[in-house]
Parts: sequence; structure tokens; C-alpha cells
Amino acid sequence: MTDSYAVIGNPIGHTKSPLIHGRFAQQTAQDLRYTAIEGPLQPEGAFAGVVRSFIAEGGKGLNVTAPFKLQAFALADELSDRARMAGAVNALKFVDGRILAENFDGIGLLRDIAVNLKRPLAGRRVLLLGAGGAARGALLPFVEAGPKELVIANRSVAKAEALVEQVRGQGGPVRACGYDDLAADGAFDLVVNATSASLTGALPPVPATVFQADGLAYELAYGKGLTPFLKVASDAGVRQLADGVGMLVEQAAEAFEWWRGVRPQTRAVIEQLTVPLR
Ligand code: ATR
Repeated sequence: MTDSYAVIGNPIGHTKSPLIHGRFAQQTAQDLRYTAIEGPLQPEGAFAGVVRSFIAEGGKGLNVTAPFKLQAFALADELSDRARMAGAVNALKFVDGRILAENFDGIGLLRDIAVNLKRPLAGRRVLLLGAGGAARGALLPFVEAGPKELVIANRSVAKAEALVEQVRGQGGPVRACGYDDLAADGAFDLVVNATSASLTGALPPVPATVFQADGLAYELAYGKGLTPFLKVASDAGVRQLADGVGMLVEQAAEAFEWWRGVRPQTRAVIEQLTVPLR
């Protein structure tokens, strides 16, 4: 019987997940169906009901996107360390009546940066902008990658400090600061915009001095072309710019392997979805 998977979010109209998983299934000759579900925003608890109906109909797994990542976290019977650390869930697997939960966003981002863009973090100075859900997901994989220094900048410095507190003891020099403090910090090898600013066309108030020509500027949002953040980086001379399309496809590949036990190739799918940045 064809196994059933889906992505659940709201809104869900623009999701690329069915296309990505469809390509993965073709490539690996896996017999599966992958659809998109618009999850209910009201009433409270309705999300859990939709997930349980999907399981009852024989569904094997779900990708979870905004605004349901916290509700999926609450619904899980078993959370991976990554999901616990991120405080959010982006993939579910249903096994023997249990709901297993994962978060592949951070590892997908790290793979895209280290493998696809050939920028391993080890020994590098890394600047992470933002301290919300997206930054939290990236934090543990980033720390584990062994950067020389990891600085988390946020408008609300207290939120950045709380993130640093979470990884205290995992090793590595990690610290928090505000945007004003960055002027005295010099240039970074990698600057990652994990704020939600680009979703509204806004710019985190990052000084141009954090960029260097040989560095990488990475925008987590995808498909938006040259966002204000990437434009500032480009104007500061940064030659390598990237958006989150690679992260999107890599987190999908992690979920696919977790569900199906086979690892799909990502390169052709990333190329298909890439929107020019300049
Ligand atoms: P997400 O899940 O996308 O990370 P979130 O948890 O709401 O969303 O977090 C949004 C992040 O973007 C926060 O770090 C927020 O900064 P504050 O915590 O100081 O509010 C950041 N952010 C949003 N708009 C921003 C802007 N215009 N400039 C700088 N940071 C911004």
C-alpha cells in the first residue's frame, strides 16, 4: 500500500514540500504519497485532532510548519534531543501508535552551509542574528560544529542571553550582544540572518563592519531574492550570498531519510528551486 505523508501549516498554499518529497520519492523509487494540509487555527486542540485523524487514516509522518511547531512539540510522545533543544518540532513519525518528534531545521541549515556552500564552521567567527525560534533551532548544531566564536545578536539582548545560557556547558565561546555592540566586534566569516525581519522587508540593524568580502552572508528566508539583509552584505563587498533554499531542501532530506531509511540527493532539487539573488 502507498504510504501517506504530508506537510501541515497555515497558510500552506505556497509550500514547496510536496514538490521536494515528490522528487525525492521518484529518485529513490519509494512508493509514497505526499500532500499539503491546511491546519486549523481554531479552536484550541483542533491541530491535535487533525494529526490524530491523519494517523487513523494510516498516515506515516508529517512535516510541521508555522504556526504549529510548538503544538507539535506538545503532542509528541518522544522528543529527540534536537527537538527538545530547539523547543519546537518540524517533523513527526508515527510508529506503533506513538508520535516521535524531530527538528531538522538546524541540521539542515548546517549541512547547507558546511557541505553545499563548502563553509565548515570549525575555527570560524560566526554571527547569528536573532534569538527567536529559527535561531534557537540553529544553535546546538552550530555550537557542535566547533566555531572559534559564536555571537548571537538580538534587539532584545535578554533573549539572546537566554539562548547562550541554554548551551552553556556544550563548549565553545558563545556570547550574546545587542546590535550596537557589534560595531566593536570586527568582521565575521559567516553572518546568518535568523530574524524574521526579511518576511516584512525589514532589516536587522546590523553594522556593515561585520561583513568581509571573503565571508558568507546567509539569509534564512528563501525565494525572496536580494532581501535588505543580503543587499547590505552585497554592498559591503560580500561575494558569497545564500538564501534558505538549501536549508529547506536539506531539512526535507533529513526527514525523508528518517521516515524511509534512504538518503535522497539534494543538489538537483535545490537548483530547481533556486531564485536568483542579484
Ligand atoms: P522565528 O520563529 O521566525 O524565529 P520569532 O520566534 O517570532 O520568529 O523571532 C523573531 C526574531 O526576529 C526575534 O529575534 C526578533 O527580535 P526581538 O526578539 O528583539 O523582537 C527578530 N526580529 C524581527 N523583526 C526584526 C527587525 N525588524 N529587526 C531586528 N530583529 C527583528
